[in-house]
Amino acid sequence: MIQELAYVGFASPKYEEWRTYGTGLLGCQMVDDGPDGAVRLRVDNVNYRIAIHPSEKDEFAYAGWGMANETDLRTFVEHLRGQGVTVTQGDEALAAEREVVEIYWFEDPWGNRHELVWGKLTIPNSFKSPRKMDGFVTGSQGLGHIVLIVPNLEEGSQFYADILGFRLSDRIKSDIFNLRFYHCNGRHHSIALAEVPGLTGFNHLMLEVANIDDLGATIDLLPEYDTDTLLSIGRHTNDLMISTYISTPSSLQIEYGYGGLVVDDLSWIARDYNHPSIWGHHRSERYMTAPPGIIRPVETAPVEASAEAPAEGSVDGQPQAEPVLQP
Ligand SMILES: [Fe+2]
Repeated sequence: MIQELAYVGFASPKYEEWRTYGTGLLGCQMVDDGPDGAVRLRVDNVNYRIAIHPSEKDEFAYAGWGMANETDLRTFVEHLRGQGVTVTQGDEALAAEREVVEIYWFEDPWGNRHELVWGKLTIPNSFKSPRKMDGFVTGSQGLGHIVLIVPNLEEGSQFYADILGFRLSDRIKSDIFNLRFYHCNGRHHSIALAEVPGLTGFNHLMLEVANIDDLGATIDLLPEYDTDTLLSIGRHTNDLMISTYISTPSSLQIEYGYGGLVVDDLSWIARDYNHPSIWGHHRSERYMTAPPGIIRPVETAPVEASAEAPAEGSVDGQPQAEPVLQP
């Protein structure tokens, strides 16, 4: 079984801006660049968990999922192949770049890349934030959580839950929201799927800090880093995270949070919510006008729909923000 969100990678023309944004605002520590010049960020004693690669356009490059050990990894790869998933073993160069012992990768039904690894390089006592802060909640809960956009939540559930084995934490559904949240360790969710017909992509990465003062201090720093609030500070109904959503130099969003719920699989029962927040998380003007992350039309969309008419809620083929992707 997948044990943790080990790392995540993006590509962006503005990758260099993450050197100041990722350190001074987010509080991550910059480590040596990747072989392609990627900016790489450390959030704990794993050497790095976030990479932003040079590219001509914003892209969700990959999510890296950590397995407990080599036996679990190889058994899981065989399981996926038995389910009809095409899984490719990464070569030594890829393993070296990701700083893992062994790596495989596959794509979800909409072309979003996932990597399976064990043995991520870890350097004890190495994390030192460039900011005055207490650091991030990682450890057995992994890097944080990601929210992917999928065009069909039923198909998403079939792949991510039935095949990959992510366990349902709960869902939030209303006339405009349709999201499912999945855990693979104690963190309430390591991945969530948000349904937006006709689109796929990456909505946000959540980083959880250990001290609520570090969340407040980050909010105070936003103007200094020319960063917009997308959703004001608020508390989610399901994972109880107190968080704010902020813009980044690239199209993805960062949820900067504190106090997320830890689940116990022995007693956990999936619930159903009809609203994402208990209080706060008010939408800013930027939220309402910017794209909801790094998105692209689904390649398998009917030809007549993609050729003649942009997806609903889009302008000039560029989908606009839809108020459905908060948690
Ligand atoms: Fe989130």
